Amino acid sequence: MQKSTAQTNSLKPDAGAIAAHIRDGGGISLAEYMRRAASAYYAGATPFGRTGDFTTAPEISQLFGEMIGLWCADLWMQAGKPARVMLAELGPGRGTLMADILRTARNWPEFHAALSVHLVEASPQLRAVQATALGDAVCAWHDDVAGLPRGDFSLILANEFFDALPIRQFIRRGGVWRERFVVWDAAEEALAFDCRAAPDTAAYIPAHLSEAPEGSIFEASPQSTAIAAQMAAHIAESGGACLAIDYGHIKTAAGDTLQAVSKHQYADVLENPGGQDITAHVDFDALRLAAAGQTEVFPALTQGQFLNALGIGMRAQKLADQASTQQQAQIPLDVHRLTAPSAMGDLFKVLCWVQKGSGLIPAGFGKGEG
Ligand SMILES: C[S@@+](CC[C@H](N)C(=O)[O-])C[C@H]1O[C@@H](n2cnc3c(N)ncnc32)[C@H](O)[C@@H]1O
Repeated sequence: MQKSTAQTNSLKPDAGAIAAHIRDGGGISLAEYMRRAASAYYAGATPFGRTGDFTTAPEISQLFGEMIGLWCADLWMQAGKPARVMLAELGPGRGTLMADILRTARNWPEFHAALSVHLVEASPQLRAVQATALGDAVCAWHDDVAGLPRGDFSLILANEFFDALPIRQFIRRGGVWRERFVVWDAAEEALAFDCRAAPDTAAYIPAHLSEAPEGSIFEASPQSTAIAAQMAAHIAESGGACLAIDYGHIKTAAGDTLQAVSKHQYADVLENPGGQDITAHVDFDALRLAAAGQTEVFPALTQGQFLNALGIGMRAQKLADQASTQQQAQIPLDVHRLTAPSAMGDLFKVLCWVQKGSGLIPAGFGKGEG
């Protein structure tokens, strides 16, 4: 068993409730632990920005949302300027990305008028923050993708949404694949990792890893692939495109990517469930496979490739021309952070899937594969 350093008496209220559930119930899977922790975390104080735990791309610069707004407008034009567009965002956080998209959309008044905005958000507290940021622009909030209205040309966006969803972690122990659980270590009075038999591992472990070396770790996020497939089903019926941006890998691979972040520092995943951001890298190949078949999926790009192809450099120059001296100094730093391989440019990936046969070629992407 791997132990956390956290003791029960040092745990905050949400963490205490999760720990008590684990202690009294005999342990839960890592996926269930992440689900409970995320639900408590996003119900708490807003974790975004310099004073929070982490900073997402839209919170770094308005340029990010402006590029996505441009990307959406281009698809609308390619589709023949439909009179009604269902624009949805999954996990909109503070609503910053959507606010920047909507401001950019005003450059094409017909496009702006066609939009009905729908948000998929689990946290009632963040729904209130989004309502303040976006006002009357939001048509409705939904609990899940299945609730999004179908029929109109649709654009469904997800930035740093999939990384927050639970993963199952499988560990090779004693020559078999087992599943990581979170248990209560009574001797240490702390949460600890353990692993247990998982009868359904064959459904998740790729054939080439079935005999992987002792200690190998493989991660799967069944909830993420189910949502990617739901997004694809929506697009197959209604037309349009999906865009997922997140940190992660393009090719499925073994490895441990589970992490916790608090106040912009890495933290112990078991230390304060509900009080820190727990995430894992997104397996973009798994998302691709979940969407392929129903839709046409384009080979994933890095965030740097995507934003550069959309012309973030030119837009940054225009913004700088009208900015204060202080802003003029900040703008290139923000662009560097979003696009440079040493910053977010390579770590973050962008995947897009569109309705089959629609002929849509999303800006920045090459030819798709069904
Ligand atoms: C890391 S934040 C990303 C925020 C935003 N997209 C941004 O880029 O700033 C994750 C968002 O997903 C939401 N979320 C997490 N799990 C969810 C779920 N299962 N269903 C719906 N929303 C969820 C959170 O409440 C939060 O709004």
